[in-house]
Amino acid sequence: MSILENRSLVTIANLSKEKILQLIEMAKEFERFPNRKILEGRIIATLFFEPSTRTRLSFETAANRLGGKVIGFTDPKVTSSTKGETLKDTIRMVAGYADLIVMRHFLEGAARYASEVSPVPVINAGDGANQHPTQTMLDLYSIYKTQGTLENLTIHLVGDLKYGRTVHSLLMAMRHFNPTFHFIAPTELAMPEEYKEYCQLHKIKYIEHNDFDENIIAQADVLYMTRVQRERFTDLMEYERVKNTYILRREMLHKAKENLRILHPLPRVNEISYDVDDSPHAYYFQQAQNGLYAREAIICDALGYSLEDVKNDTTILSFPTK
Ligand code: CP
Repeated sequence: MSILENRSLVTIANLSKEKILQLIEMAKEFERFPNRKILEGRIIATLFFEPSTRTRLSFETAANRLGGKVIGFTDPKVTSSTKGETLKDTIRMVAGYADLIVMRHFLEGAARYASEVSPVPVINAGDGANQHPTQTMLDLYSIYKTQGTLENLTIHLVGDLKYGRTVHSLLMAMRHFNPTFHFIAPTELAMPEEYKEYCQLHKIKYIEHNDFDENIIAQADVLYMTRVQRERFTDLMEYERVKNTYILRREMLHKAKENLRILHPLPRVNEISYDVDDSPHAYYFQQAQNGLYAREAIICDALGYSLEDVKNDTTILSFPTK
């Protein structure tokens, strides 16, 4: 049986520790051999009602590298939703064409709704300010690769903790691994109460800060920077006021622990200066590449392939990849 709930992946919150670790093991297998034909004959639909670069392209690359085919759209304006077609009807139609639906939508809860009306699995590629579970799987894979463990880490979440769906998903997933979080945000973009209550319920330690300096960075194993989410603001004056509150500069890393890795879901706007990119602590571009392997695992799992199936797969194409 698939390790994803109902074979759909709507929220990271329901994945057990064992299930997360199995997906990481599967991602490791795909990093060793990313090119296969295991999905030959399968069709993956990518429905993006909101813009994306990494999530869509890494899902489509994952499907293509595994021998599947991709249909979909990148702009809802070119679909019949502009004529008034409902999400329910769109999903039911696409489910008639494809074996799996990957969907990004601007409405919180849209992925859950789609999973409830779809006869094929639905993977949430981001729903409003709510969740981004596949980003979290690649974040966990990146943390595991760079720290050698997910246990007992100090993780600093910096920037837009109000609208940033990636930080919401990450803190939920980390409940299994005894983290200590530092929430670093301007008051207007602080971690919402519901996620702080989630931390209290699951005994996740957290400390809130407004300051962001080298002494705070010195405590971190993982520094998770985020973009201020302009598209979620109703008042753009407010966005202008807070958008550059925190900018990570190279000189702020001089007290950093050797194992510190800087993650960012990307895109970045202004929150990491370019002089950080060649620091040994910078990991955000490798993190984005890890998305390919994590999403290969997520697609295969949703389509019912077990870790054993992947380990025993004989369709490997062994030409080198980057
Ligand atoms: N990290 C992320 O979701 O990037 P995209 O918006 O480009 O998909």
